[in-house]
Amino acid sequence: MEKTFIMVKPDGVQRSLIGEIVTRFEKKGFQLVGAKLMQISTELAGNHYAEHKDKPFFGELVDFITSGPVFAMVWQGENAVEVARQMLGKTNPKDALPGTIRGDFGLVVEKNVIHGSDAVESAKREIALFFGEEELVHYGKLI
Ligand code: CMP
Repeated sequence: MEKTFIMVKPDGVQRSLIGEIVTRFEKKGFQLVGAKLMQISTELAGNHYAEHKDKPFFGELVDFITSGPVFAMVWQGENAVEVARQMLGKTNPKDALPGTIRGDFGLVVEKNVIHGSDAVESAKREIALFFGEEELVHYGKLI
């Protein structure tokens, strides 16, 4: 079963959007296999956003993602990575369609509410960065 890494960013947590976001993923039909409220260290932020380390906004990005608690999750389901990206909407909320999470709740790219893995390989890397195997559950056949 495909898994993806989804994280409500500090702006989303502060704005009490965790429940709304979890509800959207549950109603879509995904299964929650891991979740935790946590504070990201500078080291973890650097690893998570390694591909952006040469971008001019990297420092700002690390400052922001470490500025307050985030809600990290792993969701599983058919085509979880691609479908979740559609639910999130475009990275810049100004381009994200209404009905998507960023389209409905975001305004600017620096505070775009939520992160989602952009490919199956990145999902594997990000899940391993944020969660230990023992923190992820396995559903039985009845569900
Ligand atoms: P995310 O999906 O978490 O992946 C990288 C993040 O970089 C992205 O969401 C944005 O929040 C952030 N980002 C992208 N472009 C900019 C920018 N021009 N200035 C600040 N942050 C940006």
